[in-house]
Amino acid sequence: MAGGSLLAPSLANRQINYKGRTTIPVLLACIAAASGGLIFGYDIGISGGVIAMDDFLIKFFPTVYVRKHAAHENNYCKYDNQGLQAFTSSLYLAALFASFGASYVTSNKGRRPTMLIGGLSFLVGAALNAAAENLAMLIIGRMMLGVGVGFGNQSVPVYLSEMAPPKLRGGLNIMFQQAVNFGILCANLINYGTANLQPWGWRLSLGLAAVPASLLTLAAIFLSDTPNSLIERGHLEQGKSVLQKIRGTPDVEAEFQDLVEASRVASTIKDPFLSIFRRKNRPQLTMAVLIPYFQQVTGINVITFYAPVLFQSIGFHSNASLYSAVITGLMLIIGTGISIFTVDKFGRRVLFLHGGILMFIGQVVTGLVLAFEFKGNEELSRGFAVVILVVTCVYVVSFAWSWGPLGWLVPSEVFALETRSAGQCITVAVNMLFTFAVAQSFLSMFCHFRFGIFLFFAGWVVVMTLFVHFFLPETKKVPIEEMQQEWSKHWYWRRFAQEQENQDDSKP
Ligand code: BGC
Repeated sequence: MAGGSLLAPSLANRQINYKGRTTIPVLLACIAAASGGLIFGYDIGISGGVIAMDDFLIKFFPTVYVRKHAAHENNYCKYDNQGLQAFTSSLYLAALFASFGASYVTSNKGRRPTMLIGGLSFLVGAALNAAAENLAMLIIGRMMLGVGVGFGNQSVPVYLSEMAPPKLRGGLNIMFQQAVNFGILCANLINYGTANLQPWGWRLSLGLAAVPASLLTLAAIFLSDTPNSLIERGHLEQGKSVLQKIRGTPDVEAEFQDLVEASRVASTIKDPFLSIFRRKNRPQLTMAVLIPYFQQVTGINVITFYAPVLFQSIGFHSNASLYSAVITGLMLIIGTGISIFTVDKFGRRVLFLHGGILMFIGQVVTGLVLAFEFKGNEELSRGFAVVILVVTCVYVVSFAWSWGPLGWLVPSEVFALETRSAGQCITVAVNMLFTFAVAQSFLSMFCHFRFGIFLFFAGWVVVMTLFVHFFLPETKKVPIEEMQQEWSKHWYWRRFAQEQENQDDSKP
């Protein structure tokens, strides 16, 4: 989600000469970004509550409905159904493919058209879902939402980081994550409200995605494109006048010249995808792949997608389980709030390491309680259900200050200019791929591995925490252009990074 600044390395220090203040157009840009994040979060959060609604199951998944209400049915397997999982996961598969197209449109046609395509696909997806009469309409609607996510997540963060004055850039990056969390909370609250509107509550839940989608579409129609994008596409005068407007001063020469220079430098990079596969860029490539992979195998989306059915499976009743999902939505917001205020003070590694330890404890306790207290065909006792709820909250809050925002922020900080666009594209694609994998397999894994699934994710949390400890250099306050030196000092990565000077560029 992080866009990353496209400033050329040698230029960043000159930002001190930039004139201007935070203006209304910049604030409008923030609202646009908020609606992009909001709708992504809304899509993440809405499906879990909807698939827990009986009217929805009766219409589209009658066998799951029968199983859910069958006496003595194994609780672990109530919701194990490929179609039901496809309803959630199809969105992320579509987003994965769309993000490649979106990457092309963002650089060749601009940020604004990309946001517009995103907003319109969201609107079509929301309409198809709300009006769905059969499974095909549902899944096609989810795929249209996925196209919206692919286009929105590619363009909105870049749009934001280019419109914002440099001093607001880092904070806005995490604010986008906070907008996602807020979308998840709204979705949970709406599901809580619509669960009792029978038989069409689920239609309202799915259709309300049109509200943030309309905001994004309107924003894309009325806002101007970024100066960076205009300059990159040869519209120098227009770029300058937008810059004057958003900075609120005619005196933008220093920043304008830097943007022109950055665009010139960027145009000399022939193939960022070839560059990222060179040996000297092995640390960056590793981070672009492993960080989003690790973020998804924390298992967070088991909670964001499936908390209502998970809590129902272990014995919380319909409303109580939605209520619990609301609590976890709040935990996401609190955790990311903590991150916003501490990330530049304590650094990324401290947040990752503490977050990892607490997430591990949360998952192991959940696994053990289910192993010893949950028989699969009886409900969990009230006391233990509360224990599960509390440790889930601990797990979610610690994810939300660590792997949640940092899973996007850190990759955006470690690429040099020559690998930045390729790195960002790989990060988004890997994230979507594993979001899809978790969504498509969790309910089946819960049925087959039972409580072991939580220990499985806990095992990955150990691996990623050790990885951060040994392999991730601190990026706090390191200017992007000095990152290469950090790799050269690192006990492991220096063997790759130090090759920079005597690099044979033709060597893969
Ligand atoms: C992750 C999503 C997750 C969300 C929860 C994001 O950083 O990429 O997969 O659902 O955080 O807040």
